[in-house]
Amino acid sequence: MENLTGFARLCVVYCLAAYVGQCFGFEEKPRVGIVGAGIGGTSAAYFLRELFGDDVEIDIFEKQHVGGRLTPVTISGHNYNAGGTIIHPANLYMINFTDILGLTRDTKPEPGRLGIFDGEEILFSTSDYSALTIAKLMWRYGMDAYNIQNWVRDKILQPLTRLYEFQKEGHAFSTVEDLLNAMEPTVVEYSKKTVKDLFKEEGFSDRFIDEFVTGAMRVNYGQTTGIQGLVGAVSMAGVERGLWNVVGGNHQVPQGLLRKSGANLIRGKVTAVSLTSEGSPPVYQIDYLPGKSTNEDDLNSKEYDIVIIATPFYNGMTDIKFEDFQTSIDPVSDAFHLTVASFIEGEPNASFFGLDSVDSLPNTFFTTNESCFFNSFAKQKPVSGETAEKTVYRVFSNSVPNVDQLKQLVPEWSDIRVVNWMAYPEYPSSVQLPSFTLHEQMYHINAIEMAASAMEMSAIGAKNVALLAYYRYTGQYDKIDETLTKPDNAQKSEL
Ligand SMILES: Cc1cc2nc3c(=O)[nH]c(=O)nc-3n(C[C@H](O)[C@H](O)[C@H](O)COP(=O)(O)OP(=O)(O)OC[C@H]3O[C@@H](n4cnc5c(N)ncnc54)[C@H](O)[C@@H]3O)c2cc1C
Ligand SMILES: *[C@@H]1O[C@H](CO)[C@@H](O)[C@H](O)[C@H]1NC(C)=O
Ligand SMILES: *[C@@H]1O[C@H](CO)[C@@H](O)[C@H](O)[C@H]1NC(C)=O
Ligand SMILES: *[C@@H]1O[C@H](CO)[C@@H](O)[C@H](O)[C@H]1NC(C)=O
Repeated sequence: MENLTGFARLCVVYCLAAYVGQCFGFEEKPRVGIVGAGIGGTSAAYFLRELFGDDVEIDIFEKQHVGGRLTPVTISGHNYNAGGTIIHPANLYMINFTDILGLTRDTKPEPGRLGIFDGEEILFSTSDYSALTIAKLMWRYGMDAYNIQNWVRDKILQPLTRLYEFQKEGHAFSTVEDLLNAMEPTVVEYSKKTVKDLFKEEGFSDRFIDEFVTGAMRVNYGQTTGIQGLVGAVSMAGVERGLWNVVGGNHQVPQGLLRKSGANLIRGKVTAVSLTSEGSPPVYQIDYLPGKSTNEDDLNSKEYDIVIIATPFYNGMTDIKFEDFQTSIDPVSDAFHLTVASFIEGEPNASFFGLDSVDSLPNTFFTTNESCFFNSFAKQKPVSGETAEKTVYRVFSNSVPNVDQLKQLVPEWSDIRVVNWMAYPEYPSSVQLPSFTLHEQMYHINAIEMAASAMEMSAIGAKNVALLAYYRYTGQYDKIDETLTKPDNAQKSEL
């Protein structure tokens, strides 16, 4: 009798455990569906694998190219970065990814001169001799060109190291604003005023803002100094030395992360995400058209415990419907900016820039003039690091240029490739930073692009979203949206 009672008790305990386990979904691996295999989606898969180990099943949906906005373009057998190109030496996730994947960093992308062009004449250009460049910078911009480097270091890069520290400790935030606040509250303030106002308040001259900063905004975002200041501050980090890109092409990072994460790539277009079970935890369904199919009859669907949208869910930019949710799932209210990248193989027209010979032409031009059809004009280096037989120039513009416009820059070409990018948000003058969290276990990495769009930003957003998903799944709610205490200054790390 004693034994039977013992056995019965054991049985009850076991059954209860199994029941509770089933209730919380513990006996099965969580299923994660990621939409988009750019740097955001693939780094999210990588971070999820780090957090869950083997106990997670990850699917990544991709309708076009693994790598997304890092997809290269090929001319005469050489690849060139067509979208995201330059990476900052303080971008630790991108550095770590290249290390983990055994990729090589090219830290000397196209050494060469920079010119600032106003549509009529070259306002400023650097020299091959650094002493002369410093003298020219001092002459035109006073101390501003020097001060901007310190400013970026103190106001952007220092807070960034703090963000890496708290993400390493595992702190996660529901919204972009809370994440940035934890990093440094003043960066949130930058997003509430224009680039122009920010740099004026910080003591930079009108000439520096109208030429240097304007040129940087145009080449990086195709926009003016009237956009919100945070994205402007981030893009001024490009004035630093040590910028790099990946030998062989930046797209190899998302490709490598996809492999490393062991996620299952599903080629196809996601058409809808719906809530199939409102229970806690919820269950979601992703509908997709496999391959390149556009036939509704081919529609497939799969169920997930966690859904990560790793592509811009912005007005006019998304082809995904959100169905059967009790509250509406709204896109970020801002539109996306068209940037056209034209790659032209040929010799440039030096006299267009008021110079006699191609030899004296700077490698890279930023333009400052809104009526100038191009934002930048720059000599390109193949991602392989090899020298191409013929020179290739890249023109960024805000609309598709016509042949006559391009001929002004390069009168005769042997090849040309034009890539239209829905490139980055159309930034307003002041921004309401959106939420990463769309629903209980459904996230949007690209909410972070409203603060600033860059490869590293997507990786930072991916890390935060992976942490959010993990903590919610494992019930560690106390790790989400914690108030962090500021470390004392003595702990500030050297940059
Ligand atoms: C011209 C240009 C220049 C840039 N220069 C720089 C630079 O120098 N430095 C820098 O750091 N950043 C730069 N950027 C920004 C950088 O490229 C992006 O911030 C970054 O690559 C975004 O990565 P992501 O993974 O978040 O998004 P994406 O790369 O856009 O990935 C999203 C993926 O989702 C897929 N997708 C979308 N909808 C669906 C669907 N319904 N179903 C299935 N799949 C779907 C898309 O095909 C895409 O592959 C530049 C961008 C452009 C366009
Ligand atoms: C990068 O990798 C190193 C070594 O693995 C690790 O110590 C560091 O924390 C990583 N950096 C970030 C930002 O995760
Ligand atoms: C701006 O560019 C346009 C067209 O290229 C040109 O006509 C105009 O003179 C330029 N303005 C300035 C201030 O250089
Ligand atoms: C080069 O540019 C100059 C100045 O804009 C123009 O007059 C000339 O016609 C151009 N050369 C060619 C070959 O198109």
